[in-house]
Amino acid sequence: MLNIEIPKVIPLDNILPDEPLLMMGAGPVPIPPKVAAANSVVINHLGETMNTVVEQVKDMARYVFQTHSSHVMGVAGPGSAAMEMAICNLVWPGRRVLSVCNGMFSRRLAEMAQRVGAEVTRLEVEEGHTTEPDILAKRLAAQPFDVVTIVQGETSNTVWNRYLPEICKLGKSAGALMVVDAVCTLSTMPMEMEGWGADAVITGGQKGLSSIPGVSLITFSEEAWSHIERRNAPMSHWCLDARLADQFWNKKSYHYTAPVSGLLALHEALRLICDETLERRFERHLQCSAALQQGIEALGLELAVPVEARLNSVVGLKVPADVSADAVRRHMSRAYRVEISGAFGLNILRIGQMGEQVRPHHLFRTLHALGASMRVAGAKIDLPAGVAELERGLVGARYPAE
Ligand SMILES: Cc1ncc(COP(=O)(O)O)c(C=O)c1O
Repeated sequence: MLNIEIPKVIPLDNILPDEPLLMMGAGPVPIPPKVAAANSVVINHLGETMNTVVEQVKDMARYVFQTHSSHVMGVAGPGSAAMEMAICNLVWPGRRVLSVCNGMFSRRLAEMAQRVGAEVTRLEVEEGHTTEPDILAKRLAAQPFDVVTIVQGETSNTVWNRYLPEICKLGKSAGALMVVDAVCTLSTMPMEMEGWGADAVITGGQKGLSSIPGVSLITFSEEAWSHIERRNAPMSHWCLDARLADQFWNKKSYHYTAPVSGLLALHEALRLICDETLERRFERHLQCSAALQQGIEALGLELAVPVEARLNSVVGLKVPADVSADAVRRHMSRAYRVEISGAFGLNILRIGQMGEQVRPHHLFRTLHALGASMRVAGAKIDLPAGVAELERGLVGARYPAE
């Protein structure tokens, strides 16, 4: 035995706030009680019960991803692990990858491709702009690519690639496989994997799905799967090897011990989405996010991204001159028990509009906390105007118990 002193730690009860904070940042987001309850259960990772859970998770995921593909898989890991799973299975040394880059997460996909030895070309999109299909078409015409990577909603700077359907079509016609990161967008806005021709779509649990962080989903198209099956290049990743994961996800056998509680939570999150239906869920997201954006502008604040490129799933707002973003966030958290996000190096604040965040009562609390805290931090704010505008935008919105 080493002579290590037994650490004296503070029990969790004394660390966590008495009243849970309202999580209105860029994720993780609040989870419904059914999801929280499922997350507290442990069952065997193999056997009849788990087989039923897995089959239902796949069926529900097919609906949410909008695909008939039989290659739906869960990943024990963050959204980044699912991104890496897409990349390391479809990309190997010598493969030519075009990475559409308009933020931190799209650059992460490019870096992952580079790390597995691909020849990566970055298509850098101007900050705050959506990717124009014409620009992509020119790059695709100039040289062949095996894979194109793109992020539907760049959470990092709140830019939306609104022409994703057209971009997928262009990539497919040029013979490339389309890898799409839908980590923050899936189930918050349309993402039609099969209809648009995406070949690998990734999502995390902690965003639109309103499940827990650490268990993610990936779906490969039949075409992507044929590349994976025919692959001769060595595979350096063991946990992320899709052919091994197929043992668990399609053959009821062992790959690694599945994150059982997280999968049960994901099951419940997907079930609630199916109950709500995608149409109603998209409508709820659109109405709430638009009302929040109008409310923020009526407070006297400026949104970060012009409307044509603006992501609805995470709303970015500029921090006024001489106001400290950290001070605003700290005040919101301490005084109002509401958490929102800063950004990675950008002087913006980000408010999530994903899953359970998109409820009228959360929006009133968040907008009020934001306006009041901005005022304390020195910004000129018209709080009643902001709240009135939010209320106008939410007319007819459904409340959870209705
Ligand atoms: C668009 C996007 N892609 C990927 C990720 C990475 O997910 P994770 O942090 O779970 O690895 C995030 C997380 O914020 C994201 O928003």
